[in-house]
Amino acid sequence: MMDIEFVRTRFIKHFDGKTGNVYASPGRINLIGEHTDYNGGYVFPGAVDKGVMAEIRPNGTEDTVMAYAIDLKDRVDFKLSDPKGPRASWARYIYGVALEMRKLGADVKGFNIAFAGDVPLGAGMSSSAAMESCFAFGLNDLFGDNKVSQWDMVLAGQATEHNYCGVNCGIMDQFASVFGKAGCLMRLDCRSREFEYFPFKPDGYRLVLLDSVVKHQLAGSPYNDRRRSCENVVKHIAAKHPEATFETLRDCTWEQLEEVKADISEEDYRRAKFVLGEKDRVLGVCDALNEGDYERVGELMYQTHEGLSKDYEVSCEELDFLNDIAKENGVTGSRIMGGGFGGCTINLVRNDLYLQFVNDAKKRFSEKFGHEPKVYDVIIGDGARKLC
Ligand code: GLA
Repeated sequence: MMDIEFVRTRFIKHFDGKTGNVYASPGRINLIGEHTDYNGGYVFPGAVDKGVMAEIRPNGTEDTVMAYAIDLKDRVDFKLSDPKGPRASWARYIYGVALEMRKLGADVKGFNIAFAGDVPLGAGMSSSAAMESCFAFGLNDLFGDNKVSQWDMVLAGQATEHNYCGVNCGIMDQFASVFGKAGCLMRLDCRSREFEYFPFKPDGYRLVLLDSVVKHQLAGSPYNDRRRSCENVVKHIAAKHPEATFETLRDCTWEQLEEVKADISEEDYRRAKFVLGEKDRVLGVCDALNEGDYERVGELMYQTHEGLSKDYEVSCEELDFLNDIAKENGVTGSRIMGGGFGGCTINLVRNDLYLQFVNDAKKRFSEKFGHEPKVYDVIIGDGARKLC
């Protein structure tokens, strides 16, 4: 995490010399359970030690926001009453969260904000959720008397993506960023929203991310398109079974998917097949973790990669290559992490193989693609919080 002084000196310089409150919120990893959140399934994320830090101070105006993105050296001022909001994509997160927090009862007025982040962008580690939950947490503290619940802050972040940023995401990223706890992964049931903390100390193993540095673009079609496929399959299954309620693929069985196979496209069928399989794999990983069987966890991770690549089609050449290198190096488990279309693989690797694997991946990846993958050792950190 960055240090407070880094943000504070810029906040003072860019505004009126006064200080505000400083908040921080993390990005996330996800051990398994990909593209299951918007299907009402399970996910297994944890917060990381990288995130977004923001200094915020009410500026006494009714609805003028003065915002400075430290990393981009970009300043944007806008009014919360402007129905269009700012154009800069980073400023839309501030605008969206502020309006969503108002809807939830926080009496958000004008404020000054400067923020910076160290979650790699486009790596599939949810830099946008880190922003959303950081801003939501800060605005709740400054204008909402902390009365907006943690879950409502999660939903404010998700609604920001839906209503102002064009991504119909699920709740995993914002959930992990708000509820994260150092040393723990969390198994969340995205339908009931019940969750459990799982202390994660894999004896003899470690988690490492290899970032392909290929940037994914979730805004617009490919992600929303996957979601539409899933909804379409649910619609077909529901039509065949008027006696029952089907909200998401979570409510559907393998048999029911087979029943509608002839009525849906081959592409939709494969996508739904992945989601049903992934639901079972998350539960399998929980059992394996309870038994300390990391080899089994790893097998399921490889299966997820295969499904994300072949059936859900959210992989790319670079990620498949990293996955192959992991396999060849005897890495226990490896798969695409996050939405896909670039970003990272998450790897569960035995301590004694770690160096050999990382070095081999760097060497061979740069021979093939002209640059090394970035390497991030996973440290599981805390969720959104006030620093001072
Ligand atoms: C993105 C979305 C999440 C989730 C993942 C895939 O990170 O924001 O809601 O759907 O992709 O698991």
